Amino acid sequence: MITEAKKDVIKATIPVLEAHGTEITTTFYQNMFKAHPELLNIFNQTNQKVGNQPKALAMTVLAAAKHIDNLEAIVPHVVGIAHKHRALEIKPEHYPIVGKHLLEGIQEVLGDQATPEIIDAWGDYYNQIAQVFIDVEQDMYQSAAWDGFRPFTVKKKEFMTPDIVRFTVDSDEVDKSFTAGQYITVKVKPADYPYEALRHYSICSNKTVDGITFAVKREGTDDTKGVVSNYMHDEIEVGDALFLSAPAGDFKVEDDHSELLFIAGGVGATPVMAMAEEAIAKGNDVKFLYSAINETHLPFKDQFENLEAEGADIRIKLSETEGFLNREDFAGNENREIYICGSMVFMNAMINELGEMGIDDSRIHFEPFGPKMSLQKV
Ligand code: HEM
Repeated sequence: MITEAKKDVIKATIPVLEAHGTEITTTFYQNMFKAHPELLNIFNQTNQKVGNQPKALAMTVLAAAKHIDNLEAIVPHVVGIAHKHRALEIKPEHYPIVGKHLLEGIQEVLGDQATPEIIDAWGDYYNQIAQVFIDVEQDMYQSAAWDGFRPFTVKKKEFMTPDIVRFTVDSDEVDKSFTAGQYITVKVKPADYPYEALRHYSICSNKTVDGITFAVKREGTDDTKGVVSNYMHDEIEVGDALFLSAPAGDFKVEDDHSELLFIAGGVGATPVMAMAEEAIAKGNDVKFLYSAINETHLPFKDQFENLEAEGADIRIKLSETEGFLNREDFAGNENREIYICGSMVFMNAMINELGEMGIDDSRIHFEPFGPKMSLQKV
């Protein structure tokens, strides 16, 4: 455990972390990938380019510094991150690599400001936090539905819209149980990409008779073209094998509320549709507000029809003609427990709007498709 004196040193670095956190983590990633190019097989390079992942790591380091006297406060964040780590097969032996380059990143960005005392205190604190992650992840590895990445066969490939495709994949060799709201992780090796690439996709239905379903949105154009989404759209066909790691993630319907509001945009409907199916099956009162661009870009019509038939109150708003979801749509639902999923931009907009309506943060649960800590207040 870190000493009280070293805790004071860490606390004194909070203003510097607030000012330079993302610069430190950006430098850290660049140096780490130079020294360990094999890690490019597990990190999402788009998140690096866009800067979400350096920001998420900086926010986590800041949260750890701010809550050093009460680490309990960051446990929910640790659990969410550990789910991603487990799904990506991050192992204890990776932690010293990250620790070394993180400390060197602090030194490089802060120069003389990073005294030996600061580096020493952060070294100790990093080891303490790393051990927490390693322990939590070890439990997750033990309880995962299967080990590592296992082959599944693509049973269906259905175009929901021109840019969203829904896959159904199956395997007789694994236990396909999961909690509604969780995601699977796909590992692919596109021919024109020098590394393996991993991506998380939320499971979009609890109905698994035909296999596990998830949806992939084609991302980007030209030089921003999403490596994996375009590969999945263009190259993966019915009958092909796909390697998946076991379901992970802590986005789920909490049991203590029966009046629920689900809010989703675009492909963000995926985890929320599974959660709504489960909530209805348990007898809850479900309202679902969904934002799509227009009729052409309105996916999952079959699933929305099923949800409605099962008792959900569904409102689909087409942004092109009716605008975005806003407080007028949310009015009257202030007492419901709220679950949101969508792009980072969508999440930000929804969380801000609900916050301005005076709805307490604790009642808003969300899952962005991207590093969650980059959106978190710490
Ligand atoms: C993701 C923090 C150690 C590899 C993340 C995320 C955070 C984070 C905040 C984003 C989670 C999300 O998507 O919501 C940390 C902290 C660590 C640590 C605080 C140390 C105490 C490691 C180690 C590795 C690793 C040792 C392996 C080299 C990854 C990868 C992702 C990730 C591959 C997914 C990011 C992406 O592909 O964009 N981590 N991590 N992390 N972490 Fe860690």
